[in-house]
Amino acid sequence: MGNLSLKLFGKTLKNPVMNASGTLGYGREIEPLWGVERLGAYVTKGLSLKPHHGNPTPRVWEERCGMINSIGLQNIGIERFFDEHFPFFRQKKTPIIVNFFGFTEDEYIACAERIKPHRLIIALEMNLSCPNVKKGGISFGKEASTVYNIVKHVKRVTKIPLLAKLTPEVKNIVEIAQAAYEAGIDGLTLLNTIPAVVIDTEKKNVAIKGGLSGPLLKPIALKAVHEISKTIPVPVIGTGGIMNHMDAIAFLMAGAKAIQVGTATFVDPYTIPKIIEGISEYLDVHGYPKIEDIIGIAHG
Ligand SMILES: Cc1cc2nc3c(=O)[nH]c(=O)nc-3n(C[C@H](O)[C@H](O)[C@H](O)COP(=O)(O)O)c2cc1C
Repeated sequence: MGNLSLKLFGKTLKNPVMNASGTLGYGREIEPLWGVERLGAYVTKGLSLKPHHGNPTPRVWEERCGMINSIGLQNIGIERFFDEHFPFFRQKKTPIIVNFFGFTEDEYIACAERIKPHRLIIALEMNLSCPNVKKGGISFGKEASTVYNIVKHVKRVTKIPLLAKLTPEVKNIVEIAQAAYEAGIDGLTLLNTIPAVVIDTEKKNVAIKGGLSGPLLKPIALKAVHEISKTIPVPVIGTGGIMNHMDAIAFLMAGAKAIQVGTATFVDPYTIPKIIEGISEYLDVHGYPKIEDIIGIAHG
């Protein structure tokens, strides 16, 4: 069988497949079906300094091209996550990536400060799609100068490798990634959801306002991965509309070192283990001894 293991930030992962933040609960929820130890790494739900209640319902809406979610970053807060859930990952020996966010720069800094290095914590993933309350709600990830400052300040308070997760809602994503790189970012996760709304034509109102994920996002995220992995010398993790192993392979060939699967798990909760098996079979059938042999091989 093809060797799926890879090194990320100096740690060995058994495969390049992760869940996307916010789409696999706190990890235990999937246990009746399959275990988080199958993952290359588990990515936490977005965690904040204090618990956050999130938005009123409806929180998810199925669309032809994917789904819209308006969870509103509900979570139990960073401290409770480490008290109540981290022991589960220690027991399972599963590496994790801690996704976190804030509504001010200080909140991002305080979150990162509270996460102590541990051999199972591969990286911190800062969600830059969050609204900056001090700038009238415009998301942190929209302006290169804001991205530069926040990355620089967060890097100062943590020794754990730092990933910036970028929003597609920008004019020039390469410029944003470049700003993160100049500020010292260790890696990039591409992409977060696209802002979207649904109109309920019976009630004549906005039924849901949130982030669009799923198949529509795939070619957009692939372009970002392809361009950025060729120009910026840090590992890129690809996410957006990966529904099966061939989608995952497209991201790896475009230059992603690892991939994250979100919406597809809501369609079929076994998607992640199927993708892991599918990539392994692909390597065998096409004569690639290891996963690294296909990373970034797409030319053009
Ligand atoms: C229900 C739901 C909750 C999400 N929560 C978070 C979150 O807490 N933090 C974050 O950075 N991204 C969050 N995302 C975005 C996903 O991690 C991922 O970047 C995006 O959905 C694109 O991947 P997909 O098309 O495979 O779903 C969420 C997405 C969904 C669908």
